[in-house]
Amino acid sequence: MYGLLFRTLFARMDPERAHHLAFSWIRAAARTPVVNTLTAAVLAPRHKALRVEALGRRMHGPVGLAAGFDKNAEGIDGLAMLGFDHVEVGTVTGRAQPGNPRKRLFRLVQDRALINRMGFNNEGSAAVAARLAARRPAFRTTLGVNIGKTKAVPEAEAVHDYVTSAEALAPHADYLVVNVSSPNTPGLRDLQATEHLRPLLTAVREAADRAVTGRRVPLLVKIAPDLADEDVDAVADLALELGLDGIIATNTTIAREGLGLTSPAVLTAETGGLSGAPVADRSLQVLRRLHARVGDRITLIGVGGITTPEDAWRRILAGATLVQGYTAFLYEGPCWMRRMHRGLAALLEASPYATLAEAVGAEHRTPDGGPHDRKAAA
Ligand SMILES: Cc1cc2nc3c(=O)[nH]c(=O)nc-3n(C[C@H](O)[C@H](O)[C@H](O)COP(=O)(O)O)c2cc1C
Repeated sequence: MYGLLFRTLFARMDPERAHHLAFSWIRAAARTPVVNTLTAAVLAPRHKALRVEALGRRMHGPVGLAAGFDKNAEGIDGLAMLGFDHVEVGTVTGRAQPGNPRKRLFRLVQDRALINRMGFNNEGSAAVAARLAARRPAFRTTLGVNIGKTKAVPEAEAVHDYVTSAEALAPHADYLVVNVSSPNTPGLRDLQATEHLRPLLTAVREAADRAVTGRRVPLLVKIAPDLADEDVDAVADLALELGLDGIIATNTTIAREGLGLTSPAVLTAETGGLSGAPVADRSLQVLRRLHARVGDRITLIGVGGITTPEDAWRRILAGATLVQGYTAFLYEGPCWMRRMHRGLAALLEASPYATLAEAVGAEHRTPDGGPHDRKAAA
């Protein structure tokens, strides 16, 4: 059904217009009584076995929507209605900005991929904070808020820009993400170097603590798949040193490997970040490397090319407590979460693990220190 809609309508439209149209339908459905509860009942069945605890929250399951889909926090309920167990809004910057000139989003349909150079188009932290403050949630989900740097702000003032966003947005966030990995803001990814990242994360942590009393808002950093292995290790070490709550791996890639021969060269040559199936292998490698370094001391979120329940399951075994997707949602449509939940529940059932928590990072454990097979023991 969605395949037909995609081929006959969305695929013929400019991808950004198609996104706005689809998102407006989702928001309209979430506002319509009966339609919203029925949609949630049909599309977002919850499986008890998939419940997870992460970042101080009890979640319905491990699969969430990655940042970039709902940049201004306009449709959290609609996305929760479709079954996303957590929704990460943003990237929000200190000031409002239009992003890069259009056209800035490209579909590589045959490769199940996208290239985007949106450039953090968003309404800015004050406007998004006001919207979140006025929000009356109709469906329960965990809300992540992803913050980044305003393009016009010089790199020397980047910390102040992130702090502005953290102070405004932390009170509304279940977790906060420092995004230093989008390829479409010049110089942003240089902030991943530990000499820049240490003061940035320290300042954002302090800003969140100033802005929110009575609870500690978990703080995560989101990294690029293009980091060299040593730099991945350095971020992992820094995260431990600073007591960070988690790392999100990964953002889009500037590499063009992994693309089939089917996508037109004119598209693959577009500048921007590549997402979807072609980034999956490197995202998984980065996740594995992080887990080897941090173990279960901090929460890892796996993202990049996750399309099937098997993809998500592989990330969980590799060390991810939570997983996210964006590109697959565009290609798979509104029933995607239903398929993911069902498939993951079946994979867990067929596995030696009694709970998802037991499966997290299981591939790294030796047979001796391996998972306790409660099912076999029962
Ligand atoms: C159109 C588009 C916009 C995105 N915008 C953001 C963003 O604003 N902030 C961010 O951290 N990641 C952003 N991302 C990256 C995604 O959150 C995700 O990390 C990446 O796409 C890999 O996951 P996927 O293969 O499931 O899409 C964006 C991705 C796409 C496709």
